[in-house]
Amino acid sequence: PDLENLLNLDEVEQAATKQLSRKAWAYYFSAGDDLLSKTLNNTVYRQILLRPRVFVDCTNCDTSTSFLGHNVRLPVYVSPAAMARLAHPDGEWGIAQACGTFGAMQIISNNASMTAEQIVAGAAPDQVFGWQLYVQVERWKSEAQLARIKKLQNIKFICLTLDAPVPGKREDDERSKNIGPNLPVRSAVQEDDSTSTTSSEPKTPAPKPKAGGIGQSLFAGTAADLTWKTTLPWLAQHTSLPIVLKGLQTHEDAYIAAQHAPQVKAIILSNHGGRALDTAPPAVHTLLEIRKYCPEVFERIEVWVDGGIKRGTDVVKALCLGARGVGVGRAALFGLGAGGKEGVARVLEILKAETETCMRLLGVERVEQLGMHHINTRAVERD
Ligand code: FNR
Repeated sequence: PDLENLLNLDEVEQAATKQLSRKAWAYYFSAGDDLLSKTLNNTVYRQILLRPRVFVDCTNCDTSTSFLGHNVRLPVYVSPAAMARLAHPDGEWGIAQACGTFGAMQIISNNASMTAEQIVAGAAPDQVFGWQLYVQVERWKSEAQLARIKKLQNIKFICLTLDAPVPGKREDDERSKNIGPNLPVRSAVQEDDSTSTTSSEPKTPAPKPKAGGIGQSLFAGTAADLTWKTTLPWLAQHTSLPIVLKGLQTHEDAYIAAQHAPQVKAIILSNHGGRALDTAPPAVHTLLEIRKYCPEVFERIEVWVDGGIKRGTDVVKALCLGARGVGVGRAALFGLGAGGKEGVARVLEILKAETETCMRLLGVERVEQLGMHHINTRAVERD
């Protein structure tokens, strides 16, 4: 497709849907049970209203910010998502290239379809990456991965995902398990192969999807016994990088995480794009809970969010609620599906332009000026 003609993220998704294999589409699109959390992730932003101020000079607009002290040009980052090469041979490397163009951060999935070395190859020296960890039952495997990650200068933190100790029940993914050939599945850092090519075929044979499609296969070997008490000390022993916890969904857990500062530097409020527990809350609800019950969390650690981001106005609303940054998962994958690395760049370009337009029309020049006074959340605060 002519990427310039794709005007918004829904159109990018539609274009990708036409190009993707049925199996890849099902894996990306799927979410838990009835897709209620996935749907609510986006619709909740629609209920929040903006409060534009007028008679304000909006000639200038600056979307730059920082994550954990590292400068980025966008408050939007790419969330860790497995198996980008199902969408396009550019894969996670293509996402990295697009992020480089826009000065955006990327978190590499533990289950990426290329090695971390391949993904960061060609990144700018100041390009910021995180690496997401699913702790393995066989801990030595995770320890070996962490040792490899340590050698990659661009990777600035470890993102430990907590909301999917077991995968959710994803019926679209399950339904497609018998369609087409099995696709390559492998971890980002388990293999010691070439560091620069994007076209080399994986050497590890794909685990055969059994009961539940690609999602279930990828989770084989993932530990379900993580705890505050045991896992954080273990992780701190095996990495000196800052730790970011992903998948928090309540103010209680956000509070505990903040108690673990400075070991824990940030949390990501996320319900895994609705792919774990269906009817778990969208990040907006958790942000509102934290504001109400333990606002000091925002002072102690950075709070990032993801899930359902489709528009610049969604980005701005999340920042107004106190998020430091906003992740996109499927949007990057669908961008890849629509047009490889240029497709991901188009997604970031759309989000940047929409975010700027929103800030300008609100009467805001810089992201740190955004706050609760710019939104009306009455429709989502009924409790
Ligand atoms: C994910 N997500 C995810 N999260 C994670 O910590 N590790 C992973 O490997 C994956 N893999 C993954 C694959 C696919 C296909 C999707 C769609 C998502 C979750 C991801 O990081 C993020 O939380 C959501 O995708 C955000 O929601 P949106 O932007 O997809 O609505």
